[in-house]
Amino acid sequence: MAKTTDLINRGPRATIYDLSAPGRRCLTAPATDIPALDALLLFGDYASTDDQAPQLPAVTEVDIMRHYAHLASMNFAVDIGMYPLGSCTMKYNPRVNEDACRLPGFANLHPYQPPESAQGALRLMYELQEDLAKLSGFAATSLQPSAGAHGEYAALMTIRAAHLAASGGKNARSKVIIPDTAHGTNPATVTMAGYETVTVASNAEGLIDLDALREALDEDVAAFMLTNPNTVGIFEPRILEVLEAVHAVGAYAYCDGANLNAILGVARPGDMGFDALHINLHKTFSTPHGGGGPGAGPICVSEELSAFLPGPIVEKGECVQSGDSDEAFYTLAVPEHSIGRVRSFYGNFGVMVRAWTYIRALGAEGLRAVGQQSVLSANYLRKCLEERYQVAYDRICMHEFVLTGAPIRDTYGVRTLDIAKRLLDYGFHPPTVYFPLLVDEAMMIEPTETEPLHDLDAFVEAMLTIADEIERDPDLLHDAPYTTPVRRLDEAVAARTPDLRWTPPEGGGEESNTSADSD
Ligand SMILES: Cc1ncc(COP(=O)(O)O)c(C=O)c1O
Repeated sequence: MAKTTDLINRGPRATIYDLSAPGRRCLTAPATDIPALDALLLFGDYASTDDQAPQLPAVTEVDIMRHYAHLASMNFAVDIGMYPLGSCTMKYNPRVNEDACRLPGFANLHPYQPPESAQGALRLMYELQEDLAKLSGFAATSLQPSAGAHGEYAALMTIRAAHLAASGGKNARSKVIIPDTAHGTNPATVTMAGYETVTVASNAEGLIDLDALREALDEDVAAFMLTNPNTVGIFEPRILEVLEAVHAVGAYAYCDGANLNAILGVARPGDMGFDALHINLHKTFSTPHGGGGPGAGPICVSEELSAFLPGPIVEKGECVQSGDSDEAFYTLAVPEHSIGRVRSFYGNFGVMVRAWTYIRALGAEGLRAVGQQSVLSANYLRKCLEERYQVAYDRICMHEFVLTGAPIRDTYGVRTLDIAKRLLDYGFHPPTVYFPLLVDEAMMIEPTETEPLHDLDAFVEAMLTIADEIERDPDLLHDAPYTTPVRRLDEAVAARTPDLRWTPPEGGGEESNTSADSD
């Protein structure tokens, strides 16, 4: 069987500029009978002269095709190998979802079309609203937000509107509590929504410290935001008590449901007592992600909050006669006290089609199996690795778990970053590192339910081999990776002054940049 490392093209290779030669063409347009005009006369100063023209390479069609295919083959992807990036749910995305969202009836829809001519799309949105509410245990859904963080923002604004309505417009309250394990988007959202963040420290088990929470709660707290299972991969066992304390001061309980994998079909945040939730459709409900979008972060809320949801949302109307059958008519409606739109039109529709298809393809039993399998895979890895790597919170985990590289750093001088980079040499995308912040030298591993056993085993083998290397030759780790097209970068420089553009060699000589030295 081909190893992942065999599937990644390790370069180097001539760039498309190296292949450029005067006169090379992709296609030659037939002679035109339209008289030529002088660009300078037409566009004046806006016309570019030959020496200002963009330096585009002159290449053939096959050169272009190979150039892009080569670049793609240098990249790591879920379709190439295991991508255990904690908190990111890099699962395999079934291709049937892609077929569905590319159906011309969906792909060619225009958002200005009248509802009569978009009934299929509106029905799909309505059914997805209902499915998500049912899966998470809430009364209503808005599909408007386009990402997880956007969903957090929309939900906090919904909560703010509810507080304002309850106080006759006088008091939205001023604080939102989050635990120190929270995803970075949570405090950012709190600020965006006009609140002050109050952080509550977790206890030694990585769980909510109920006493500390009770101390922070007062009648100025608008909401408590919690990820459950939390970001160290543990289900909060005292969740009912936690939410009772939150409600006792009149605050709302918000669940960051970016990743629902672990509890899918098994437990519902609405039943736990949460009032609002966002879901990253692009994670749990299977849209390729990681490249910056498009995504979708629908929010589901309790009956009490439903009138404040961002709109429009889809409603199922009266049945109308259509041919031989009666069919419901779907309309767009804005909830009575809606916070309004949080984006143009109706959300990222293609992502909704993928989620709808995924839910239909798996059915209730399949979705429950996602939850069970993702938890099983994470616990399998945790047990296989625990002898050589210290598990930060040594207990049964949910869909992910966190290792701490602190003992390895203290004994061998090898950092978590070194281990992550070395994994690339063995053909695996590294786990999330240095998050969550409360774990020293954190390595957060989320295998997802779609990794086959043989790939989980191969990952374990690579991690154990690296553990041997650390003991035998720690210096080897410091310069890893050795086999990737781009070696170890100075990440601070790369982030602050990214060098992503080809520039002609000094003096226009023969020298050239190859893809291997473009770092
Ligand atoms: C727990 C958690 N909350 C929120 C988000 C934010 O989601 P998005 O990146 O779609 O804005 C993420 C994304 O990784 C997450 O893991």
